[in-house]
Amino acid sequence: MKKYITILIITISLLPSLAQDYRPSSLHFTPPHGWMNDPNGLVYLDGQYHLFYQHNPDTIVWAPMHWGHATSTDLIHWQHQPIALYPDSIGMIFSGSCVVDKHNTAGFGHNAIVAIYTVASTTQAQAIAYSTDGGQTFSKYNQGRPILTADCPDFRDPKVFWYEKDEKWIMLLAAGGEIHFYASKNLKEWGKISSFGYGYGNHQGVWECPDMFLLDDKWVLIVSVNPGGVWGGSATQYFVGNFDGKRFIADDHIGSQRWMDYGKDHYATVTYNNAPANRRIAITWLNNWEYATAIPATTFRSCMAIPTELSIQKDDDDYRLIVKPISEIDKLKKRVDSIDDAKNCAYEIDIVVEPNDQKRSIITLQNRKNEKVTFEYDFANRTFSMDRTQSGITDFAPSFKAITKASINKCEQQRIRIIVDRQSIEIFDSNGQFCMTNLVFPTEPYSVITTTGENISYSIYNLQ
Ligand code: FRU
Repeated sequence: MKKYITILIITISLLPSLAQDYRPSSLHFTPPHGWMNDPNGLVYLDGQYHLFYQHNPDTIVWAPMHWGHATSTDLIHWQHQPIALYPDSIGMIFSGSCVVDKHNTAGFGHNAIVAIYTVASTTQAQAIAYSTDGGQTFSKYNQGRPILTADCPDFRDPKVFWYEKDEKWIMLLAAGGEIHFYASKNLKEWGKISSFGYGYGNHQGVWECPDMFLLDDKWVLIVSVNPGGVWGGSATQYFVGNFDGKRFIADDHIGSQRWMDYGKDHYATVTYNNAPANRRIAITWLNNWEYATAIPATTFRSCMAIPTELSIQKDDDDYRLIVKPISEIDKLKKRVDSIDDAKNCAYEIDIVVEPNDQKRSIITLQNRKNEKVTFEYDFANRTFSMDRTQSGITDFAPSFKAITKASINKCEQQRIRIIVDRQSIEIFDSNGQFCMTNLVFPTEPYSVITTTGENISYSIYNLQ
């Protein structure tokens, strides 16, 4: 009898490992277990990049939110840290940001890390917590009671940064389908200074997770919208303009839309405060609320996209946000002969395509089960697309079977980087024309790459 019980226990304990785990390489951050959504509180201090995140440690679905925590010295290898903020009787801990209080404006101490987050119950309000041990532990200020209460529904996701010129803090809040701007001298008392949004960009869904920063001499405002995304559901839009310490004035025309990424799984993008060398580094949740809680998962659910570095480019009279993988990834690249050699870890395929008289050029990744992803340049219509309709497991949500498309404006030589990991494919055009982030769930790794014709060449690299 004892023998049978032992066998039963061993069998039960093995069960989760029989289902696909889809745990990616460390390039794509994942929680140790449980549920994860937005990146929160991205801040750099004393050689450490901190990544906090929306987290439910207990199950693999969204439920009372905590701030999970991890640290890294290179944005690639992460160390899990104890949970930073727990929900309490005041509410759940929703998204927000962290700053380094270099001038001790709040009185918590020189270089204290201050977290500014939303407490969510029947209403939403903003609260702060602080750390005087470099982000290891946080104390809730005033027992977690709000420092800023709602002036409208959907009042959340504070992004705070230091505005050097006026020596004050600026807070952006997603508030009732707009962005509200507040200012403060001490992170505790805030006054509203302006708002932006009505008539601008996409308003088919709720606005969430704003961020704003200066690139060269232009201000870029990032706003996530859900639903209403470019391929349905969630997506990240942005605006380019000017900020005078009070008001953001967009260069964009009323009604025009700009997307940061042309895939279907790119949401809640925010950037690091205090990053070294003035770098503007972004982390994105690699998912879509349309099916986030249904994607194949066993012990954890969701990953972050690879960290990217943002810059701005002027084309004629218009400015464009350029999104590139952080250069730290280049140091991992080791040339291999085939994706079969690389399939047990993340890998990169660098592709060069010479335009061929209005014809289509197709690249396919495929496994032995005939599951495949196709990438297509259509030079007649000047588009690049990715088709994941036969990519593996797709039946957990009707809208997962998607073809995502981006415009290419120049019909000259095309160069792209395709980064493949256990549950994702990210594509970066080397001229910054587009990027495209998508989930895929093959039941075994893709093992063969095929291309149509002589005009395509490629090389493959392990990213390990
Ligand atoms: C965006 C979001 C935020 C909110 C958080 C809750 O994905 O809805 O607006 O703070 O998730 O988990």
